[in-house]
Parts: sequence; structure tokens; C-alpha cells
Amino acid sequence: MKNRIEIVDDGPMKLTGEFELRDDKGEVVRARKVYTLCRCGLSARLPFCDASHEAAGFSSCPRAPQGTASADASTHSA
Ligand code: FES
Repeated sequence: MKNRIEIVDDGPMKLTGEFELRDDKGEVVRARKVYTLCRCGLSARLPFCDASHEAAGFSSCPRAPQGTASADASTHSA
């Protein structure tokens, strides 16, 4: 399974795959196959989405420019 990061229109960021969520000390808090992380900042369960974005009318639909994947990989490697 490939790791996948998906921005949900007007909602959370969905991560699917092998991810570890770490705290500010680098300790693993959770290791799950699917995370939905809040993008609106209104969740009562941060950093996770609790669907508060729906009642708030959160609106955000960012799109990566087409054809930039290989350029991004060469300029933002960790
Ligand atoms: S994105 Fe869902 S509560 Fe913030």
C-alpha cells in the first residue's frame, strides 16, 4: 500500500498508509492506517477532525499546480 495524503474539499486532511503521529518530543502517540487531521482549527479533538468544519462552513479547496510533482521532490527533500 502506498502512503497517501489527500486534502478533502472544505474538510480535513486524510492520511492513509503507514504513518506514525508523534508529539513535540518525538514520541509516537499513535500508529494507524487512516488519520483525518483537522485543517479548520475548530475541532475539539485536535489534531483530529471531529466534523466541526461542517457546522462552521469551513471553505478551503487548495490544488497543487499540475506538473510540479517531480520538481517538488527535488527541491523539498528531507
Ligand atoms: S477539518 Fe474537520 S473539524 Fe476541522
